[in-house]
Amino acid sequence: MKPTDTKLLNSLRNQAALASKNAYSPYSKFQVGAAVIDSEGRVFVGCNMENASFGLTQCAERNAIAAAIGSGSRAGTLKTLVIYVPGKLALPPCGACRQVMHEMMAQDSRVISCCDSDDIKTWSPQQYLPDAFDFHDY
Ligand code: THU
Repeated sequence: MKPTDTKLLNSLRNQAALASKNAYSPYSKFQVGAAVIDSEGRVFVGCNMENASFGLTQCAERNAIAAAIGSGSRAGTLKTLVIYVPGKLALPPCGACRQVMHEMMAQDSRVISCCDSDDIKTWSPQQYLPDAFDFHDY
């Protein structure tokens, strides 16, 4: 399956939106969901999980990626990650998530943000984190 496949994208979008309903976000009240597909076609989802100690908040994207890695997906091979955010704008992922994506997503992967409108945004690794810090470099 190509990462640009419309059917696949719709499916990942639906799974991300469904996961957002599980968000634990009593402080921000902002419910984010993410769905990532690995090189074997397995899909993993995540939602944001906040904490009274605010700095411990985990984003939906990183939770979806962690679910994939925890189930045996190999670092650097994840193919497409779809983020769902409520509202009319397809918001971008945060900086911390971009660094994690850089290491876990495949070089030819795509990160796609969608929302409740038709707004949709897509990034390649080079676009979401140019000049990334990378373990190959030290
Ligand atoms: N959040 C995500 O889950 N993903 C992002 O890329 C940005 C922010 C969450 C963290 C927090 O629970 C809430 O959205 C507001 O920042």
